[in-house]
Amino acid sequence: MMQFDFTTLPPQDRYRLLTNFVGPRPIALVTTRSEAGHSNAAPMSFFNVFSQDPPIVILGIQTRADGNEKDTIVNIRRTQEFCVNMVDMEIAEAMILCGVNFARDVDEPAFAGLATEECRQIGARRLTRTPCAMECRVERIIDFPRRAIVLGEVVEMHVRDDCLDAQGRYVNPEVYQPIARLHADNYIVADRQFELKKPNAAAAWEADQLTPPKTQAG
Ligand SMILES: Cc1cc2nc3c(=O)[nH]c(=O)nc-3n(C[C@H](O)[C@H](O)[C@H](O)COP(=O)(O)O)c2cc1C
Repeated sequence: MMQFDFTTLPPQDRYRLLTNFVGPRPIALVTTRSEAGHSNAAPMSFFNVFSQDPPIVILGIQTRADGNEKDTIVNIRRTQEFCVNMVDMEIAEAMILCGVNFARDVDEPAFAGLATEECRQIGARRLTRTPCAMECRVERIIDFPRRAIVLGEVVEMHVRDDCLDAQGRYVNPEVYQPIARLHADNYIVADRQFELKKPNAAAAWEADQLTPPKTQAG
């Protein structure tokens, strides 16, 4: 095994190693409302859901190379709101365009050809063709010198009709196939899904009625 001491490693090497191995990471195309009133959109792969009660999603937003904050976090601080739009192949290329560091007054969804519509509970707009959009209110922001970690509480979810099964309980895996970021410019699409079920004895182990068989490592 190769070892890397993260306490002495330069940040760009930590970034490379962490993002190479912690993946695929789902992509949030985050829409916010600018001070002038237009939409801003930026992809974030330091993103995931961490809780359902309360329903918390988390974003990791670093500063630009010049040390200034990105438009997304500037807008989130001011409005205390943002919308997470999940990304599939249909909007993948537009998502990449939104990742370009445009001037603050550029309406990125419009530039990338992404239609938007009003949210129900927040002032930011959501993407019309996203499979799933989550309206979020800031729960808290944890500030580090060059990074803000944003905890958002999901207050409303919009799901495209074809993404859920007839009962509206589970995603239709043939339709909802999000893309996720691997390392550098590499991505993966969730088009080869499979089921993995617990063995039959699991219920008894969980009830602590049986001792599970020992693994090789003991
Ligand atoms: C797939 C992808 C994932 C990204 N993830 C992040 C991230 O998690 N955090 C971050 O600060 N920037 C991330 N970026 C870079 C931002 O999207 C980029 O800096 C963007 O220009 C910020 O836009 P804004 O100034 O409108 O907020 C990512 C870019 C791409 C293409």
